[in-house]
Amino acid sequence: MLDYVSEWQDVRSSSGGAPLPWGYRYLLCPPRFFDVWYSINPWMDPDVKVDHELAHDQWHQLGVALREAGAKLEELEPLPEHPDAVFTANHGVVDGSTFWPAPMRFPERTAEVDHTAEWFRQHNWSVADPGLDSSQEGTGDALSFADTLVTGFGRRSDRRAYDTLSRRAGWRVLPVELTDPAFYHIDIAFCPLNDRTALIVADAFTEEGLRCLRRLVPDPVLCTRDEGLAFAANSVVVGRRIVMPSCSARLGRLLENRGFEIAVSDVSEFRKAGGGCRCLTLPLDTVLPAHDSV
Ligand code: ARG
Repeated sequence: MLDYVSEWQDVRSSSGGAPLPWGYRYLLCPPRFFDVWYSINPWMDPDVKVDHELAHDQWHQLGVALREAGAKLEELEPLPEHPDAVFTANHGVVDGSTFWPAPMRFPERTAEVDHTAEWFRQHNWSVADPGLDSSQEGTGDALSFADTLVTGFGRRSDRRAYDTLSRRAGWRVLPVELTDPAFYHIDIAFCPLNDRTALIVADAFTEEGLRCLRRLVPDPVLCTRDEGLAFAANSVVVGRRIVMPSCSARLGRLLENRGFEIAVSDVSEFRKAGGGCRCLTLPLDTVLPAHDSV
C-alpha cells in the first residue's frame, strides 16, 4: 500500500486546475441537541462526554470560517432527540433544484432526513423519490469530481443503491469500495479540491478503488493514515480556500504549493461522533454529473 502512496505522491507538485463550480452555499444544523448517545461508527463511544459549550463554539467558528471564505449559509432547525442531525451532509444530495433524500442505514438517523426534506420543500426545491431499498448516505458518500460522481460503498452505503440512482437520476457514478471502518464515509477519505486535484486517504480504499481514483484524479494529494484519522480530508472547499478540521505542516505545504489557502477550524467535539467540517455541511449548489446518454 505504501509503494502506491509514494508512487502517487511523485506524480506532480503543482496542479493548476479550475476551481470547483460548487461549494459556495451550504445547509448547516446548529448543535443544540448534539451528543453521543449510541454508537453507529467506530468513533462513537457513548461513555465519552461531549463538551456542549465547546461544541457550540466550534460549530459557530466553523460558520465564521465558511463565511469568511465566501460561502453563504442556511440553517436547519435542530431536531430534539436526534443528536446526529448536525451532520447534514448525510441527509441527501442536491442536483440543481432537486433534493434527493438519503435512505440512511441506521434507524437512529432516518427521521432527520424527513425533517431536512421538509426544509427543502418549504424553500421551494423539488424533493425526489430515490426509490431505494438499500442505503445511501447522501453527500457523505457522494462527491462530484470533474465529470464524475465519486461514491463510497461497503460501510454505510450499499453498492446497489448506485445502480438505481444512476438509472433514476441519470448520474455518472463511480462506486468505490471503502474497507477501513475508521473511514466509513467517503467524505472522510476523499475531498475534491478543484477539477484536477483531490485529497485522498489511500488506506481507506481497496487497490482497485485506488486504481479508479488514480485514473480519475490527475493530481492527487495523498494524506497519511494519521492525517486521515485527524479528518484532514473531511474539509470544505470554497473556491481556493480549504476549511479543514486539521492540517499537518506537510499537507499544508503540498496544498499551498498548489495555490490553496488553508483555514483550520477545530471541530474536535464532533469527532467524538465521527464527524468533521465536511460532515457538518450539505452543499446546496451542486449540479451532479450526468451520463452521456441522459
Ligand atoms: N455520527 C454520525 C453517523 O455515524 C456521523 C456522520 C458523519 N458524516 C459524514 N458525512 N461523514 O452517522
